[in-house]
Amino acid sequence: MTTATPVSPTEAVLHEALTGLTSAPQKTLPPWLFYDQFGSQLFEQITALPEYYLTRTERALLTAHADNILLEFVSPLTIAELGAGTAAKTGILLHAATRFQTEVLYQPIDVSPSALDEAAANLTAAIPGVLVLPQVANYVTDPYTLERPEGQRILALYIGSSIGNFSPAEATSILLRLRSHLGPGDALLLGTDLAPGPQKSVATLLSAYNDAAGITAAFNKNILARLNRDLGADFNLDAFAHRARWNADHSRIEMHLESLIPQTVHIPTDHQLQRIQFAQGETIHTENSYKFTEHALDALLASANFTPIRTFHDPDRSFAVTLARTL
Ligand code: AVJ
Repeated sequence: MTTATPVSPTEAVLHEALTGLTSAPQKTLPPWLFYDQFGSQLFEQITALPEYYLTRTERALLTAHADNILLEFVSPLTIAELGAGTAAKTGILLHAATRFQTEVLYQPIDVSPSALDEAAANLTAAIPGVLVLPQVANYVTDPYTLERPEGQRILALYIGSSIGNFSPAEATSILLRLRSHLGPGDALLLGTDLAPGPQKSVATLLSAYNDAAGITAAFNKNILARLNRDLGADFNLDAFAHRARWNADHSRIEMHLESLIPQTVHIPTDHQLQRIQFAQGETIHTENSYKFTEHALDALLASANFTPIRTFHDPDRSFAVTLARTL
């Protein structure tokens, strides 16, 4: 991990672009670059697409099982959330919790202050009894804290299959760090997209990442548009194509941007104009989205000192919400 010299947001983007686009043999850009203002809007649109079953399946699981999840706890609880965003699905659990206790402390952690403001405003207005304590932090790289009101247990949410963006080793370290804030009787609620199986085809997975309306393609290409906007790069968006691939060896969907022609792209830096060459057919790898087998899920939880109590999934076993307790 690189040391924390304070850098401006633009410097951070430049650093990622120069590092990732000069890496051989595979050029890469990290998925966090998707989520500027435009990319966040495109992701919101993705969550409503007919092909993108993840969000609606998880929402249905939370709606159906909120009481079952909360009834696993004997004492009052506080709910924390990694990567809360605007907390669109969290209201389901918070609302259910206010029927078991008069007041619930909600502790969302996210890199985006505007998303946290929106979450706090929406939840406070919609659910009386919810008290929001937001924290602006990157839960992968920044320190964060979890409050424990007297006598309460902590239920930590890590939903939306966000963990799927990380390699198994990174996923373990994220959960281990979360685990270090938890104690006996506390729990984790983890939402994960599942690997293909008898009822879930690779085709279903691929179309979730390559929708007919082209929103996912626009989301992927927005990473190049962002480098143009933020850094003054000169990517021609029409000279790259969105690709979604199933990597069976690693059980993950990969998103790439494929250069359709041999071309040179320029990125201005303080000292010079950096030239980036692309061969025809060469790709920039922009995202991994890991898909879990039951075995991989158990192994991941065990690697971070959690053990599953209950797993909820839809009839097709597309998506799972797993309640795990601390070991
Ligand atoms: C937000 C990481 C869960 O991997 O499905 C959606 C992001 N990428 N379509 C996912 C995403 C392409 C999404 N996560």
